[in-house]
Amino acid sequence: MPESLFDSAHYRNVRRPALEAETLPAWCYSAEEFYAREVERIFRKRWNFLARADELARPGDYMSFELCGEPLVLVRGKDEKVRAFANTCRNRGTRLLSGRGSCRVITCPYHGWAYGLDGALIATPGMEETRNFARGDYGLLELRLESWAGFLFVNFDRTAPALAEQLGDLPALLASYDMAEMVCVRRREYELTCNWKIYLENAMEDYHTPTVHKGSIGKQLTEQLEARGDWRAIYLPAAETIALLPEDKAGAFPPIATLEGRAARGTYFVALYPSSFFATTQDCMWWLQEFPQGARRTRVSVGSCFPKRTVARADFAAKVEKYYRRWDTSLPEDNAISELQQAGLVSSLSRPGRLSSREPVVHDIANWVLDQVLD
Ligand code: FES
Ligand SMILES: [Fe+2]
Repeated sequence: MPESLFDSAHYRNVRRPALEAETLPAWCYSAEEFYAREVERIFRKRWNFLARADELARPGDYMSFELCGEPLVLVRGKDEKVRAFANTCRNRGTRLLSGRGSCRVITCPYHGWAYGLDGALIATPGMEETRNFARGDYGLLELRLESWAGFLFVNFDRTAPALAEQLGDLPALLASYDMAEMVCVRRREYELTCNWKIYLENAMEDYHTPTVHKGSIGKQLTEQLEARGDWRAIYLPAAETIALLPEDKAGAFPPIATLEGRAARGTYFVALYPSSFFATTQDCMWWLQEFPQGARRTRVSVGSCFPKRTVARADFAAKVEKYYRRWDTSLPEDNAISELQQAGLVSSLSRPGRLSSREPVVHDIANWVLDQVLD
């Protein structure tokens, strides 16, 4: 590994056109120093997707997260507004909420300070003798939160441009799915021993589908789309939903009522940089959100979302099992290959490789990351 990882000379071959380019050097996937730069220049500057608004349906509902080492919590207030807070008590810093649930006030498990759902400090037992103490100065620390189509995003950077800028023309591409009207019916978490980029790259190329998914979803032949904004998409023409295994296709739900144009005739796979992925198909949508835990570890959350009208069907609970079967079959295949890739990349003898014509977004991810982390 070279002394300075951020000298652009190391990346000259990554910068070439995709079919002439080399892949990122292995240290980009394994060195903590490179990861720390990504956290500083990417994750702390960009909008990061955390949860769907429908996952926090009622006032008092909360979900806690850890994003690049930062404990965060989303809470729906009595005024119906969802807020994002640093999940840390203003007395001596204890993490306030864990997991997900519902509460009327946020009470610190250590000494019992209590906060309203809007973050205001409302009870401070035993603080009567403390001088010059005003509760109004010690409310929860709030982060910027914005939403699009039911997806909630947070940003650590007070000066970052609005979410709309990061999204560019993605909302227009996906408008006919009416995702704001969808409900997340299941969320699964995987703890993976791989770098966050490995997982995203895998999700955005079809080169691996005939091998890795040979016995499940099989080969997919996608095309890359033009994008304006911090996202990339590939499109898979297919007459029916791909959220079911081939043998289960007869059990599909009806298509989303509002679908138009290409959305009605195929599936979009979208990477919203830095680390969100979602797939929109004729009857549902699923997302994979990556929470980096270090250079070589990533927690992946997978959400399965269907239109409200589909979820209300009498046969929903029975039929959705086939969809779960599809995700629970194909996702572990991607998880395993991502961990194998990481296991090989850490070799001290590893050298940058070359890309096929089926991996254009892998090249794009590498170059986007370099654009952010190099001076
Ligand atoms: S650390 Fe929360 S009340 Fe003391
Ligand atoms: Fe895959």
